[in-house]
Amino acid sequence: MKRKVTKAVFPVAGMGTRFLPATKSIPKEIMTLVDRPLIQYAIDEAREAGIRDFIFVTARGKQSLEDYFDSAPELEKSLRQKGKKDLLQELKRTDMDSGAIAYVRQKEALGLGHAVWCARRLIGNEPFAVVLPDDVIHGGRACLADMVETHRETGGNVVATMEVPKEKVSSYGVLGFDEDDGSRVRATSMVEKPAAEDAPSNLAVIGRYVLTPQVLQNLNRKERGAGNEIQLTDAIAKEIDGETGVYGQRFEGQRYDCGSKAGYLQATIAFGLARDDLRAELSDFIANLDLSAGADAAADI
Ligand code: G1P
Repeated sequence: MKRKVTKAVFPVAGMGTRFLPATKSIPKEIMTLVDRPLIQYAIDEAREAGIRDFIFVTARGKQSLEDYFDSAPELEKSLRQKGKKDLLQELKRTDMDSGAIAYVRQKEALGLGHAVWCARRLIGNEPFAVVLPDDVIHGGRACLADMVETHRETGGNVVATMEVPKEKVSSYGVLGFDEDDGSRVRATSMVEKPAAEDAPSNLAVIGRYVLTPQVLQNLNRKERGAGNEIQLTDAIAKEIDGETGVYGQRFEGQRYDCGSKAGYLQATIAFGLARDDLRAELSDFIANLDLSAGADAAADI
């Protein structure tokens, strides 16, 4: 019998060094796009895909992430007294039932595969999702929901995928594939961060996965891959010739790499422009930007 996908792993142990000094005291997953932290977007997408159990793989210094999902009774009381129903409503949307989130610690930064492996006991012997909160997808049907559907149909492992420029493939896991119906490809190979000349295609893996428990068994071997890290990509690739295979799922909407400064700024603008309460002012500001003045101001610093 096929099991429903109800558990998702959120690897949030990274130090976020690309955003220092901010990430000295703020986990990068708490950084906001407009007024919601990155992790909230990841949780919302997972909920839309039917996920009910949320497993955070954390590390030292991530307490504020746990606090974010705790209740805030003083704040709620004060908002209630002031009659601020809208804000109370906003807070309610971030509510998580007690017991819905579990935290496990990754004690050593040994790679994404290792982070996922740390959650193995909580996942058990069932299919599960992995969501990387750095990868934010804006607009369109929830990517993970489509992937859960593909898993339901095929029983296989599913990774989100999109074409990237050839010169960027070395930042990603990359798929080789044969069948391609436009929205779904069947993988024939999967390589973590290949050099452009060695890449099987320019179809990159984006941070959403629906995986079979067999991948956890593969991670048990603790084999090191690219960058001498235990790579999730390698553990998934072992399933390509397995019974159920590996599929790449193209998705609707725009993906932003919020693990990079440029991607994070682009996402901030896109999410701002999508908001009814901000669009007019923000687009007016952008339309009137004097781009050369920005460069002058930078030179003055
Ligand atoms: C991770 C994965 C990589 C994937 C990428 C998507 O890499 O290892 O396969 O393409 O996420 O964002 P990272 O960006 O953590 O180096």
